[in-house]
Amino acid sequence: MRRAIALKSLMILALTGPLMPFAMAQHQGHMHHHGAAPESDSRELVQMPDDLVRPMLANMRDHLAALQEIQSAIAQDKLDEAASIAEARLGMSSLTLHGAHDVAPFMPAGMQDAGTGMHRAASRFAIAVKDAAVTGDSKPALAALAAVTAQCVACHAGYRIR
Ligand code: HEC
Repeated sequence: MRRAIALKSLMILALTGPLMPFAMAQHQGHMHHHGAAPESDSRELVQMPDDLVRPMLANMRDHLAALQEIQSAIAQDKLDEAASIAEARLGMSSLTLHGAHDVAPFMPAGMQDAGTGMHRAASRFAIAVKDAAVTGDSKPALAALAAVTAQCVACHAGYRIR
């Protein structure tokens, strides 16, 4: 009986252990919304060669600009334009543009997954927003866009390069 309980808590530990850093990062993100400074920074520091840092951050600012342009295009019912921005600047087609092959080898697996997840989600959004032009229902496209920003949020919560 005792052994069964011990085994159970071991299993719980094994299951929740790997999720803890992510849960903590999420918690900090949450605190951020309320304006409180996080007490500590649990993001994993990823060492990038100096000459890759500035281009990577420039790409990041372009990601944000692309999101803004996508939202603006949706608001103006320019759905095809929203699709091409997403595919070209955030989607699978943007991988070479972003020098993903240069930075990817320096990224831990979880960071690579968030990057790939973002590119896939953006390509899925491009399809969903084209569908919206046909169905007249933009909700699935907005949900697909939220799935893109979820990848930005997840990577930022887990990793830093400086
Ligand atoms: C694979 C991980 C990853 C993904 C996905 C990601 N980012 Fe980033 N981003 C980073 C890292 C790492 C930094 C640098 C954080 C630090 O150390 O300061 C960063 C920084 C930024 C910055 C600050 C740039 C600067 O000049 O300082 C912006 C803006 C940004 N990201 C926007 C986005 C947006 C928008 C998305 C999603 C469309 C996104 N990022 C997706 C990892 C990611």
